Amino acid sequence: MCERVPSLDKVRFVNTGTEATLNAIRAARAFTGKQKLVKCEGAYHGNHDAIQISVVPPLDKAGDADSPNAVKAFPGISETVEDDIFITPFNDIETAERVIRENADELAAVIVEPVNGQCGMVAGKPEFLEGLRRITDELGIVLIFDEVIAFRIAHGGAQDYYGITPDLTCFGKVVGGGMPVGAFGGREDIMSMWDPTGGSATVQHAGTFNGNPMTAAAGIATLEALTPDKYEYLDTLGESLRTKLRALFAELEVPMGVTGVASLFALQFTSTEVVDYRTFATNDKTVLQTMFIGLLNEGFLMSNRCAGNVSMAHTEDDVDAFVTAVRTVLKRAGYA
Ligand SMILES: Cc1ncc(COP(=O)(O)O)c(C=O)c1O
Repeated sequence: MCERVPSLDKVRFVNTGTEATLNAIRAARAFTGKQKLVKCEGAYHGNHDAIQISVVPPLDKAGDADSPNAVKAFPGISETVEDDIFITPFNDIETAERVIRENADELAAVIVEPVNGQCGMVAGKPEFLEGLRRITDELGIVLIFDEVIAFRIAHGGAQDYYGITPDLTCFGKVVGGGMPVGAFGGREDIMSMWDPTGGSATVQHAGTFNGNPMTAAAGIATLEALTPDKYEYLDTLGESLRTKLRALFAELEVPMGVTGVASLFALQFTSTEVVDYRTFATNDKTVLQTMFIGLLNEGFLMSNRCAGNVSMAHTEDDVDAFVTAVRTVLKRAGYA
């Protein structure tokens, strides 16, 4: 992984993406001596308290679009975490810059998914991600890329795709080849928080199954199979799927769209261009549910928000079969 991803001086392995973001945030806090975080509205970074905030906030609690409230995802989360986090809209660098500058003295880290999975594999705008890098660099704030999903968009991950170097990166999913996995890594000086040589580590990395050898074997086999040419194939197939879906929606004149980048895609049940959480929230949830069940009946199991990805097992025939299934469901349900 260090050969593939240039920002990784060191990487440590855990069992889930949740533990990856938990440890990256902890490292950022230990390294900077500061407590607070900035995250994007509508971003999921795992199932731990610090970050289960404003993931899918109800709009009547979410506040103004350019000054979103921090909203706990559900009851049971520690009462104090809302005070330790600032929320900013995805893909809006002006607002992010204001939020970061106003709170810079207290900020340990900015955490961002370069491609927002929760809102439908929405690609980060280069100027947004580059802006976050420029501002955090200037202010000495740790920039964490959550590439638990987005690592799959290029051989060297999303940071390779965008040409941006974060301080820390979180991984999961594909790097374990289907086994339970998470990993986090980055700059030597930050990762040295865990270095036990010469005494004890500043931050301890406990966990019975950390660095699990079965996961490592599956992950190595998967990553070795994913050579650069495979990414070209996946990019082409993903683009073909998105193009064919867009053509279908135009032909049927349905208010739908498709988001995604490289092998990632999601159906959007809105005519609004989806670039962040508020535009994602314009989705028609009834049509979404109908599509999810309808596609299941046609033999396609999507995530329950109709997001998915193409893989090396897929061909153009699978893309065509999927597009046909979407057409069938839209017609059967009376939407076209
Ligand atoms: C972007 C992102 N971060 C973190 C996680 C948490 O990973 P895990 O489910 O392995 O805990 C997920 C899971 O889907 C994710 O999509």
